[in-house]
Amino acid sequence: MPLTLDRSHVLPFLDDRPALDDRVAQAHRRVLDGETEMPEMLGWRRMLLDPDDALLESVAETAAEIRDRADVLLCIGIGGSYLGAEAVMQALDTPFSDDGPEILFAGHHLGPEYHERLFQYLDGKSVYVNVISKSGTTLEPALAFRFARRFVERHFDDADRRIIATTDADRGALHDLAVDKGYRRYVVPNGVGGRFSVLTPVGLLPIAASGVDTRSLFYGAVAGAREVTDADAGHPALQYAGDRYALGEQGYKTEVMAVMDPALRGIGAWWQQLFGESEGKDGKGLFPVVLQYTTDLHSVGQYVQQGQRTLVESFLRIDDAGEGLEVAEQDDNGDGLNYLAGKTYGEINEKAYAATAEAHAEGGVPNWTVTLPRLDAENVGRLIHFYEHAVSVSGKLLGVNPFNQPGVENYKQKMFSLLGKPS
Ligand code: PA5
Repeated sequence: MPLTLDRSHVLPFLDDRPALDDRVAQAHRRVLDGETEMPEMLGWRRMLLDPDDALLESVAETAAEIRDRADVLLCIGIGGSYLGAEAVMQALDTPFSDDGPEILFAGHHLGPEYHERLFQYLDGKSVYVNVISKSGTTLEPALAFRFARRFVERHFDDADRRIIATTDADRGALHDLAVDKGYRRYVVPNGVGGRFSVLTPVGLLPIAASGVDTRSLFYGAVAGAREVTDADAGHPALQYAGDRYALGEQGYKTEVMAVMDPALRGIGAWWQQLFGESEGKDGKGLFPVVLQYTTDLHSVGQYVQQGQRTLVESFLRIDDAGEGLEVAEQDDNGDGLNYLAGKTYGEINEKAYAATAEAHAEGGVPNWTVTLPRLDAENVGRLIHFYEHAVSVSGKLLGVNPFNQPGVENYKQKMFSLLGKPS
């Protein structure tokens, strides 16, 4: 069973949604036919329709070397150059296991203490570095890489072998440096924007180094891309895109992605960037926020239930999430939990989800549920494609270009001026 979308808590909130189906189908066809503002930026889809097995193999070989030789893989990147890798690793890694190298991130913020202590922590360990920047000039990763390069050069004779650069094919400071130093290089393909790049070497190399089966991940997305090619407006990605658009038109402002398992939080953070950067322009788009339930039901759950009625919510859950620990009957029943005897964590979490979806709908929050049959590489690949396609169609419906992010430059320019960067 592929991924499913339950709309039962959304449809009652929608005014005349079927009237939108033709527009959604048209927007979908335009994405498939490349009739978008930047058709060249549909590379995320083209690469799925024409898989490069040699590239997958090369990434797997490099990852095997890292797994063999490194205690730590330091991944340096920000935004689309790191969120996808973190998301997939968080989803597919076994919690509390120490299989393979430790994967650490740097250059994804400017935290002073984090970066200082990071290099102290790396001292004495076998370190590989994967520096990832499409432009090769983003300040946060470039700065972290300056320190990482010095660290690796000081500590290892084979420094140039331990640094792998994932960047543009032909240009940028990182490209030039990598060529000059003879680092191994992987390319961020031209037609793939940062937030759409998790299934390129940007995400695939760190993900493979963490031990995830990247071929299944990639081919899960391939299956999704092939399926959507012949789809009509009934396809879940198109229903989701259409419903979001309709709700936005009705005045809803914020979409909460509510993940029902901590393993899915990274997917939520990746989705947040994908939708936020793709839609949030020209005063349009739903503001995307990820929450992890039931944890956040005890922080902002009150707001979701009774605050301003401008929220929509999409639950992300796993059908076969495993059962986990089973509650045993206890003689004293001192905690009063014997009513749960025989139930597992999995069952209890399911009831929490069902109760929350119903309560929030009753409180005036339309909510969908996206269900993955299992949390495995293939299904995560499908999920990635699901959201990439949905956001592209959504951009068409909104009339914005989903493949650029001009607003990100504003803070950079002011920061560079405060830092005295030469123009
Ligand atoms: O989606 C995007 O394009 C951005 O989030 C970029 O990935 C991010 O700004 C990092 O850019 P770069 O890879 O050029 O360092």
